Amino acid sequence: MPKHFLMCRPEHFTVEYAINPWMRPEAGADRDLAIRQWEGLKAAYENLGHKVSLIDPVEGLPDMVFAANGALVVGGRAYGARFAYPQRGPEGPAYLRWFTDRGYPVREPEHVNEGEGDFLALDDVVLAGTGFRTHLAAHQEAQEFLGRPVVSLSLVDPRFYHLDTALFSLDGRNVAYFPDAFSQGSQEVLRRLFPDAVLAGAADAEVLGLNAVSDGTNVVINSEAVDLRRELERRGYEVIPVDLSELRKAGGGPKCCTLEIRGEF
Ligand code: ARG
Repeated sequence: MPKHFLMCRPEHFTVEYAINPWMRPEAGADRDLAIRQWEGLKAAYENLGHKVSLIDPVEGLPDMVFAANGALVVGGRAYGARFAYPQRGPEGPAYLRWFTDRGYPVREPEHVNEGEGDFLALDDVVLAGTGFRTHLAAHQEAQEFLGRPVVSLSLVDPRFYHLDTALFSLDGRNVAYFPDAFSQGSQEVLRRLFPDAVLAGAADAEVLGLNAVSDGTNVVINSEAVDLRRELERRGYEVIPVDLSELRKAGGGPKCCTLEIRGEF
């Protein structure tokens, strides 16, 4: 089944503020390299037969490339983002406008949430992270708007500040995750829901290997996540490695650059 992704070219990408432990403004980032790496990710999706739509990048919003944070779209309904840090604030309305202009039913959020950064939709439930960015009240707001059960999970390691830095869906029913990123209770929930999950180690998590995108057959994943790649192959997945090292300087990987549009309106 081809997927539909929304992406934003990193034309204004920089690391000029620090809102997560990966970001070091004094070290800077190479925008041209970031653009080339991002083009490689877009091409990887297109080669797999997925559809990529684009949103216009906005000057002065260097993190707008991280489209996953722009909204959560399930069943053709777009739940808007409301960013935790003011530096990214204007991205929320910019992404929401993209959906409004195209006729999607949208919900302007009352509560702080960073879209698919913290909400991962599986077939029957939506997994939702909290602890660093998205507020618990937003989990409830999303559940009411989308009509899908939302399962709250607590993130405890600031390096894994968004749910999508520590967990990804393999096929809508099973997941891969880094247990230490979660509270004890949330680890227990994950073990209960996904007894057959792929468990990643620290080395793979530290190169944002869990920030991957799977269509159920192919997994687009940071190339440096070598053990995780091997385990995915052992389980029969086709692994498509990508190099997004420049975007990782802002704390993002392939999934961060990708907002999935589920179900047309
Ligand atoms: N610099 C961005 C931030 O800290 C990175 C966002 C990464 N996106 C994601 N879906 N994890 O907000």
